[in-house]
Amino acid sequence: MKRLFLATAVSAAALSFAHATDLEVTHWWTSGGEAAAVAEFAKAFDATGNKWVDGAIAGSGGTARPIMISRITGGDPMGATQFNHGRQAEELVEAGLMRDLSDVAAEGNWAELVRPSSLLDSCTLDGKIYCVPVNIHSPQWLWINNAVFEDNGLAVPTNWDEFVAAAPKLQEAGVVPLAMGQQPWQTTLAFQTLLTALAGPETYTKVFGDKDADLAGGPELAKVFEAAATARDMAKDSNVQNWNDATNMVITGKAGGQIMGDWAQGEFQVANQVAGKDYTCLPGLGVNEVIQTGGDAFYFPQVDDPEISAAQAELAKVMISPETQVAFNLKKGSLPVRGDVDLSAANDCMRKGLEILAKGNIIPGTDQLMSADSNQQVNDLFVEFFNNPSMSAEDAQKLFASIVANAD
Ligand code: GAL
Repeated sequence: MKRLFLATAVSAAALSFAHATDLEVTHWWTSGGEAAAVAEFAKAFDATGNKWVDGAIAGSGGTARPIMISRITGGDPMGATQFNHGRQAEELVEAGLMRDLSDVAAEGNWAELVRPSSLLDSCTLDGKIYCVPVNIHSPQWLWINNAVFEDNGLAVPTNWDEFVAAAPKLQEAGVVPLAMGQQPWQTTLAFQTLLTALAGPETYTKVFGDKDADLAGGPELAKVFEAAATARDMAKDSNVQNWNDATNMVITGKAGGQIMGDWAQGEFQVANQVAGKDYTCLPGLGVNEVIQTGGDAFYFPQVDDPEISAAQAELAKVMISPETQVAFNLKKGSLPVRGDVDLSAANDCMRKGLEILAKGNIIPGTDQLMSADSNQQVNDLFVEFFNNPSMSAEDAQKLFASIVANAD
């Protein structure tokens, strides 16, 4: 009897190890806050008996995505990879290189759970679901170091105009009013956030979604380009490349504020800063409280290895589970993709985002509206504009309007 029991125990152990599959996961989350968040995914996946093999790619999405795409198209696929919500993986899916997750989505009832439904729409092609949405990130935020203003006898700004008005005094004190890194997507993020705040969410959607070139070249956008020129002047002494280095300038008081997505929260948290006390977050720059439902999803290259395939399904389930959604998003500074989770631990900024989301004051992300190629052309324009003070707001607007006219 004893031998039979021993044999059963050994085979059970062997069976569990048989499913201990290593899965390489690529992403571009390498800042302090991002690493803390992605560790929650790794921990949750390892708890299933599989193994998260971290494939972090330093830099930003603009650096990582070409590497991810070439590995998949080159026959050296990872087990899973991050892309943003929207059209970045469109060609990979159309080429049949990505795994259909519809069975996992149906089993997990994602169609009912995921909100807003646009997140799942961005994963869907020809009625099949090819990614698991994992968060909602919005670029539309201004992050302010309260002490920088208070120490200079200034009230903490409650909106963009007050922030701009305070800039000369900060410059006199040797503080950079607006921190900005020079990765191309950051300069476009600043512009499209100014556009949404100062010209309104409808104008944003008409320009980026309907490709309305007349509007893009018209008087409403002229005001936004003037504001972008003001932001350029406030940011001229930033001298940093990465977004989180710019965030660090705000955290350490070298800068007064930063226009950045709510992933910046992860950096404040890692620096033990308290939202509402040490720093202030202004959604919609305190002008138009709207958030973009952009963010991140994971895609799974099609492989013919059943163990890898099983581990891929397991990871998708884990990433969207209630407990992992809370653990990951609290560290990431993003909002969960499902409404049925306990967010009592949410801080002041996350609560602001959740309230705006609940009101339905949302707009799609540029990656959901424009093709990767058109987004790249916009990025190239704004990194040039923000780095080249001799480029006038008028000239930049003319170039922008022509990009919009030819965008898809
Ligand atoms: C975005 C991504 C965020 C954030 C940011 C900076 O594309 O959605 O998760 O990490 O890049 O790396």
